[in-house]
Amino acid sequence: MSEETNQQRPEDLISRINTAYGNFDREIELIPDTSASLEDSAKHLLEVRNLRIKYLGKKSELAIQRKLIRSIDPHRRGEAGSSIQKFEQTINQRIDDKERTLKTSIEKTRTDRESIDVTIPGRRSRPGHLHPITLMRQRIEDIFVSLGYAVEDDREIETDFYNFDALNIPEGHPARDPQDTFYTTEGFALRSQTSTVQIHAMQRRGAPVRMIAPGRVFRRDTPDPTHNPMFFQVEGLCVDRGITMAHLKGTLQEFVHRLFGPETSTRFRPSYFPFTEPSAEVDYSCFNCGGPGCRICKWSGWIELGGSGMVHPNVLRAAGVDPEEFTGFAFGLGIDRTCARIYELDDIRLLFENDVRFLEQFR
Ligand code: FA5
Repeated sequence: MSEETNQQRPEDLISRINTAYGNFDREIELIPDTSASLEDSAKHLLEVRNLRIKYLGKKSELAIQRKLIRSIDPHRRGEAGSSIQKFEQTINQRIDDKERTLKTSIEKTRTDRESIDVTIPGRRSRPGHLHPITLMRQRIEDIFVSLGYAVEDDREIETDFYNFDALNIPEGHPARDPQDTFYTTEGFALRSQTSTVQIHAMQRRGAPVRMIAPGRVFRRDTPDPTHNPMFFQVEGLCVDRGITMAHLKGTLQEFVHRLFGPETSTRFRPSYFPFTEPSAEVDYSCFNCGGPGCRICKWSGWIELGGSGMVHPNVLRAAGVDPEEFTGFAFGLGIDRTCARIYELDDIRLLFENDVRFLEQFR
């Protein structure tokens, strides 16, 4: 093609630019000048930047037409150049204005957000305090530590071995019923009692051993005033040469004296636990009425403390301790119910409702 036929006229360039920029006004007006949130303003600022690239960037129609000025009759090139320049200035000005307005709006939102009204009363930070269950646990720990017991902390998810086999609960035993336990995956369950720590402690420390293990346990119990599906127990274990039921009775007697007062007595009722033989439920005389019966002890004069017994030889064996040489006692006390009795709560569920009005009373 000859240079003659390829020659452009300024009107052609301007007409092509006008066509390509037909939507510009609408597009820039669609972007709001302000917005309530900083996130939205940042989004709009990005939209403006994209508009600048589209209409003024290297690949814009303006850039393309500017290159064609070369092919215009030299006498008319100036006319084309100044028309394109004017057009470009207008577009640039509109985009600059929009960008400035948005930036001012962002600045204002930021200042409003950060400004401090020194006349508004400050928010007093309220010092926290321990949960009643923690207070109770610490009281129990203090007593046993002073009696020479170590405090063990152990896992809440257990294998079948620690949950069942080692505690003399063989395959098919009712305590393995899914209705009694929360299974996680095959072979693992949330511990339903702290007795699992007996095994860990004996494996870790060997014998003799004297420890308590406070911690969370889980059961598929329907919540009611004396039951929660998650509650706290404290396990106790004492294994040595020549340990008898008399040591168990003496230890728990001493414990209730220190917790409730020297006039408190204990009673042991025959019971059954697979991991102790013989087994007994332990009650203490009501710290409120001392025997005749009152609302706290439900008119019986006695309050249940937990389960106990002499460690079954199978349990000692499973944990690697020789039952011919060592004997021991164990007990498991419910912290939540003891806490409820001491603070005269009618319902242990109050302990986990997280109601600040209730919890503040233990400050
Ligand atoms: C046991 O859990 C035995 N492991 C105790 C034991 C340990 C016996 C060592 C022998 C040797 P039991 O199921 O009775 O026993 O529970 C002990 C205490 O946990 C109860 O006395 C009670 O205070 C508390 N408890 C049981 N179920 C719940 C529940 N759903 N909510 C709150 N407390 C509970």
